[in-house]
Amino acid sequence: MADAVKIILNPILTENGKFETYGKVKSASDFYDELSSDYVDMIEFSSRIESESKIFESIVGKYKVTRCLDAGCGVGLYSIILSKLGVKVLGIDISGSMIERARELAQRFGASAEFEVLDFSSIKDKYRENFDLVLCLGNTLPHLISEKEMLASLRNFYNSLEPNGILIVQILNYDKIMENEERIVNVRETRDKIFVRFYDFEPTIIGSPSLKVFEVRKDFLKFNVLIVDKTKNYSSKLITTRIKPIKSEELRRKLHMVGFKEVEIFGNLLGEEFKACESKNIVAFARKI
Ligand SMILES: C[S@@+](CC[C@H](N)C(=O)[O-])C[C@H]1O[C@@H](n2cnc3c(N)ncnc32)[C@H](O)[C@@H]1O
Repeated sequence: MADAVKIILNPILTENGKFETYGKVKSASDFYDELSSDYVDMIEFSSRIESESKIFESIVGKYKVTRCLDAGCGVGLYSIILSKLGVKVLGIDISGSMIERARELAQRFGASAEFEVLDFSSIKDKYRENFDLVLCLGNTLPHLISEKEMLASLRNFYNSLEPNGILIVQILNYDKIMENEERIVNVRETRDKIFVRFYDFEPTIIGSPSLKVFEVRKDFLKFNVLIVDKTKNYSSKLITTRIKPIKSEELRRKLHMVGFKEVEIFGNLLGEEFKACESKNIVAFARKI
């Protein structure tokens, strides 16, 4: 109940004129380390291995993919799908616990993908021109909250690709989310648990409210996962991290900045048209020429 009240109250305007939100912010690695034991249930892992395989089969065929870097692989959903399609896959992730799960699941699903704990900004020249496909899916990119970290990571993805290789990025449609201030990301109930993924907008006041010359900017979001355990008398746990929403044109600009020549934005992995006010996702296909 206390969690529910805090969620409804967010954000609050404090006495000193600042906005504050509840929920202690964790780093991406601590956030996913804590979430790792629930992640498989939260994302409907097992059914998606089957249902999403067809899309990747066509991507593998179209781009003649033989070696793939799955950047921010999490528990290995896409690494396992691609590996089962005959692609040699390396999944990397900053969270040691997510990588442990990915290794267990790959074994369970008979996939030969390999996994490594690695921060994107540390890839540097380790995998120079090693892959014909780099994937960064499942809204991973917004976890890179500084401009420097974001550009360094995108540049490392670029350098890991062979000439003519392709980077596919999928994030949620922040053009729409920011415009409509959509707080609820997803609600899912399993036999034992309820997962509520939601945002808190974190407004920053730039300028002087007393002089009435100010602007309220929303550069960051708090991303929260509320987990309710039905088997333990509906006890709840709230895990929070900070993310940087990226809009479609900003994503396109950043991809060009790090060297990608051809960048196409779609509304999903099937290549359907991106509509800023409707699409659920922003999907970028960026080609290194
Ligand atoms: C939303 S999950 C997506 C996982 C997977 N791609 C999927 O769609 O199921 C984001 C993942 O990115 C990882 N991540 C976040 N920042 C990272 C960084 N700087 N370097 C490597 N991995 C990172 C997190 O640990 C987490 O597992």
